[in-house]
Amino acid sequence: MARLKLAVLISGRGSNLQALIEACRDPAYPAEIVLVLANEPDALGLERAKAANIPTRVVDHRNFSDRPAFEAALTTAIEAAGARLVCLAGFMRLLGEGFVRRWRDRLINIHPSLLPAFRGLHTHERALAAGVRVAGCTVHFVRENTDQGPIIVQAAVPVLPGDDVGRLAARVLVQEHVVYPLAVRLIAEGRVTIVAERVVIADARTPAGALVNPGPEL
Ligand code: GAR
Repeated sequence: MARLKLAVLISGRGSNLQALIEACRDPAYPAEIVLVLANEPDALGLERAKAANIPTRVVDHRNFSDRPAFEAALTTAIEAAGARLVCLAGFMRLLGEGFVRRWRDRLINIHPSLLPAFRGLHTHERALAAGVRVAGCTVHFVRENTDQGPIIVQAAVPVLPGDDVGRLAARVLVQEHVVYPLAVRLIAEGRVTIVAERVVIADARTPAGALVNPGPEL
């Protein structure tokens, strides 16, 4: 079966991009990255793409007079690469209605919280300030409102005594690198449908049990 062609949009470090690159190295993985697109010319992720021989493009938002013009350039680059699924991976520009409509149900994002909690920036700071005992990450389809849309996969991690933003972010990031390739695989396998703005996954195997924090053995 033909592999699903991905465009990965980044702004910086690109560790989630790296997780997708690693997944795609497996010939049995049903997707391949055909384009890495950055809005920041010095995004570290561009080097990761080049090291993996993946075509890169920079579309610098500062070179456009308004958001629709910037987003039209993004779409032109994505279409030229033949991508059929757009993966936001630490892409830190808000996307407007036109772009979201053009790529509706073909545009996914990863966010470092258990959505719908802690949308937006500084998620880990706010999770720690709220005193939550469980944090996590979410891969979801993108809709007009930021960090909102049908949820595909989530992973939960405990918040531990003594956590600071760095420690919590690192624990969540390990799971981001698990759930993003998983979500892409499920979509590429044709197992993901959206029914009444909720995701249904065909033949999903969900682990039984729960993460309880602090542990019930206390
Ligand atoms: C990741 O933690 C991702 O979840 C977050 O930015 C980081 C990018 O890291 N995205 C958002 O906050 C989007 N709202 P990476 O460049 O190493 O993948």
